[in-house]
Amino acid sequence: SNGILTVCVSGAAGQIAYSLLPLIARGDVFGRDQPIELHLLDIKPALDALHGVVMELHDCAFPLVRNIVETDDPMVAFQHADVTILGGSFPRRPGMERRDLIAKNVNIFKAQGQALDRVASKNVKVVVVGNPSNTNALVLSHYAPSIPKQNITALTRLDQNRAVGQIAMRTGVNADQVEGVAIWGNHSATQYPDVTHATVNGEPVMPKLGGRQAVAEEFIPCIQKRGAAILKARGLSSAMSAASAIGDHLKSWILGDSKIVSMAVASDGSYDVKPGVYFSFPVRCSAGGDYEIVQGIEMDEFSRKYVSATTEELFAERQEALELCAV
Ligand code: NAI
Repeated sequence: SNGILTVCVSGAAGQIAYSLLPLIARGDVFGRDQPIELHLLDIKPALDALHGVVMELHDCAFPLVRNIVETDDPMVAFQHADVTILGGSFPRRPGMERRDLIAKNVNIFKAQGQALDRVASKNVKVVVVGNPSNTNALVLSHYAPSIPKQNITALTRLDQNRAVGQIAMRTGVNADQVEGVAIWGNHSATQYPDVTHATVNGEPVMPKLGGRQAVAEEFIPCIQKRGAAILKARGLSSAMSAASAIGDHLKSWILGDSKIVSMAVASDGSYDVKPGVYFSFPVRCSAGGDYEIVQGIEMDEFSRKYVSATTEELFAERQEALELCAV
């Protein structure tokens, strides 16, 4: 490209985007010397609201922002996209079955996958945020066969950050003194926030959290249900923390990270998770957009039980999604 990074945000009139766009535009994600072109996608009824967001972006006078495109057409939004953040999805309504939620989203991610396949950079880096994010990533990948599977990811960095934040708070340290937390599986209530290898200042976290039973009864459910707790308290789902996590995810992925981080990526058989789903693993990111699933992490009976439950849920979602793709 011409040195300008084209960053597309879908769901750009939504609340996550409202927190995310200033991070990107200021240079907090891709660097203070990386000029940006923003492609903002939302649906037609939200275009007026989106225009208001664009007016505010102009009013921020960010020097790194070289151009802004606002559109309801994925073919326009994904044109030459280097990075794509997909937050636009159909939200779960009270009483909605998983199958109905997946059905609504299959249509969205089918259209977006096909558009991405046709007009994005073949090296585009995608992070799917809209729920059910792992399965939306799978559908997207299914309809974007020319985009390498490993270039498509789903966000579980928020879950990792939540776990790190809780450990820091409960043990009275700073967040950067916590290491080795991993998120396994689905970004849902079956996710496994794994602290069996986590440390605080190099010492095991498990005993500091009260041991296995306390972790199983208290810590793990706290992380699994954190999204619901925020929704109850705020009357709105997490947005600031989600935006911050998206920034962290992309920064680690694109610029590299000396620490191990979690993201949902195409499974490759590691840890007995058969290929075919987007599954959160601990990964090591090297600069330039390459990453590897960390191998050789020891998994005891305690961990295996959680990993198999979340694997089962993801394969059930996959089944439903692929049936809907076939019709
Ligand atoms: P929001 O409802 O404020 O915004 C969503 C935006 O997407 C709206 O402006 C809507 O018009 C737009 N949209 C809907 N369908 C679209 C389509 N087909 N194409 C383009 N845009 C479309 O929601 P918010 O709070 O910004 O959250 C976005 C998504 O992220 C939700 O699905 C939410 O559940 C999910 N989420 C995921 C997290 C994760 O860790 N993976 C964390 C927090 C939220």
